[in-house]
Amino acid sequence: MTMRIVEDPGSMSGLSARWRKQGERIGLVPTMGALHAGHASLIRRSRAENDRTVVSVFVNPTQFGPKEDFSAYPRPFSADTLCCRREGADALFHPSPEAMYPAGSASFVEVTGLSETLCGAVRPGHFRGVATVVLKLLNIVGPHRAYFGEKDFQQLVVIKRMARDLDLPVRITGCPTLREPDGLAMSSRNAYLPPAERAMAPAIHAALAWGAALSRQPLTPRTLLGRIRERLRAIPGASVDYVALVDPETLQPADALRPGLRLLTAVRLGRARLIDNVITS
Ligand code: PAF
Repeated sequence: MTMRIVEDPGSMSGLSARWRKQGERIGLVPTMGALHAGHASLIRRSRAENDRTVVSVFVNPTQFGPKEDFSAYPRPFSADTLCCRREGADALFHPSPEAMYPAGSASFVEVTGLSETLCGAVRPGHFRGVATVVLKLLNIVGPHRAYFGEKDFQQLVVIKRMARDLDLPVRITGCPTLREPDGLAMSSRNAYLPPAERAMAPAIHAALAWGAALSRQPLTPRTLLGRIRERLRAIPGASVDYVALVDPETLQPADALRPGLRLLTAVRLGRARLIDNVITS
């Protein structure tokens, strides 16, 4: 089976429309490229649940702040193409920034209340850019289902809320985080980690997993978070942006420990800002 590489949004919509007319169900895996095993698992999930799978590769300028890594973000397009082919995607949608944001583009999606906390507090405008591009990709491709990794948990919550609030005819599916054998959550930005920081990075997940186990003790959320923060701060070279325990739908801070809460953190290690999260049980 040949995989199509489509650059023009109109051609992508046309291809999807033909598939829908044939009664085929379409899955979309939105990505910014630099694909790794975590993305491959999303593609496989989409293939298992749909007749056609589209992978979008688009480094979205509107979700990067002025001092962030937009220009430096890895763009290994040949390797990404190989990965999509190997995983059996039907189409790779690879639009240009000009095609996605024609001159004069002035409309954005704001998911208020969920976008300003956690990562949104240190990355103002980030989730506005994410919600906007995801809505555009959903409109262009028209999938029945779309797949996102739980590693970006806040992003997943924002996108689910947008789909609900705007009555989008798509099912948003969150998929489990894939990890390296030492526990580090897979991420395209792990490529930024020099060997010394890479060696330290698994301690982030270890601290969260330890915290999730500790959450079964009779503690207050404040005490629990304090202990986890201490452990994260002890990682050489680490600076903790936040560590939080929240309700998984509202992202509001938990007022008591219980199973099913999300424990999230963002930690800076050298040039990289790493995020991770686990569920309490
Ligand atoms: O998670 C990502 O790779 C991006 O934020 C997404 C969802 C593809 C939007 O650009």
